Amino acid sequence: MSGYNLKAKHVLITGASSGIGRELSRCFAMEGAHCVLSAHPSEISALEELSGELERSYGVKTWRFGVDLADEGGPKKLYDEVKARVPVIDLLVNDAGLMVYGDFHETDINRQLRLVHVNISALMTLMHFFLKDMTARGEGRILNVSSVSAFQPTAHHAVYGASKAFVQSISEAVNEEVRRSGVRVFTLNPSYTKTPLIKGGDFPERLWWYAVSGLADPAMIARKGVRALKKGKTLYIPGFKNWIIHILLPRLSTRKIINFFSYHALKSRP
Ligand SMILES: NC(=O)c1ccc[n+]([C@@H]2O[C@H](COP(=O)([O-])OP(=O)(O)OC[C@H]3O[C@@H](n4cnc5c(N)ncnc54)[C@H](OP(=O)(O)O)[C@@H]3O)[C@@H](O)[C@H]2O)c1
Repeated sequence: MSGYNLKAKHVLITGASSGIGRELSRCFAMEGAHCVLSAHPSEISALEELSGELERSYGVKTWRFGVDLADEGGPKKLYDEVKARVPVIDLLVNDAGLMVYGDFHETDINRQLRLVHVNISALMTLMHFFLKDMTARGEGRILNVSSVSAFQPTAHHAVYGASKAFVQSISEAVNEEVRRSGVRVFTLNPSYTKTPLIKGGDFPERLWWYAVSGLADPAMIARKGVRALKKGKTLYIPGFKNWIIHILLPRLSTRKIINFFSYHALKSRP
């Protein structure tokens, strides 16, 4: 199947300054897509470096937008600024995300609320505005970067897992609503991946779970994610092992067992 052709499409990627978002941007540019790169304003120099690389290496056009998606008006500001400068967005990639590790009652509630704004409210708002344009045109794609954390509660980063369950649920429901209009909503569901989100933040260096899952390479996640998008896979978990762990095993088990296992496997080890 030749699938969805990205050549000359305009792709808006949030969270393009690092990790999976930066690698996805490289993959889209490699496919000939024009890249509309967005990140927090403090990361504008990282976006400038990336856009120079993409233009030189792949001859595509790029735009850069530094917007804080945790601000209440941030997502609408990004939408308005993009609409004013870019002719059309064919594919919206909601990649920006935050993680807070620690037992819920001990964490800083303001950081958790910031996570909710970025992982949930911003994604939902951008999806809402761009979907209106896409359904009116009768074409378009949305790719939401979810996680394997969407499929079961995640002790010790409870709000993060809950935010990804939200992303999963809204993506699948809205995909059903819009599919007859020619628009599709996809999720990419990586397992733990070596990025600043879990390397360099407050995420523990040692988890029992790493012995099972390992740590994925963001470039590999992006390559496989783009291939899945092109093939039309609306839910894609990179790695067959991860599909067994997160889709098959929960169906064969009880929630009590899953939650007990999650508590111990995701607990920080000294
Ligand atoms: N790493 C993993 O293990 C893993 C696994 C599954 C799913 N994911 C998901 O993958 C996505 C990308 O994460 P990553 O692992 O690649 O981490 P990352 O390298 O830390 O990337 C996160 C991106 O989100 C942006 N961002 C954060 N807060 C923002 C804000 N307030 N306004 C605008 N942009 C903001 C960051 O921009 P700045 O750098 O400019 O702040 C950065 O570009 C997230 O949705 C994450 O949940 C990650």
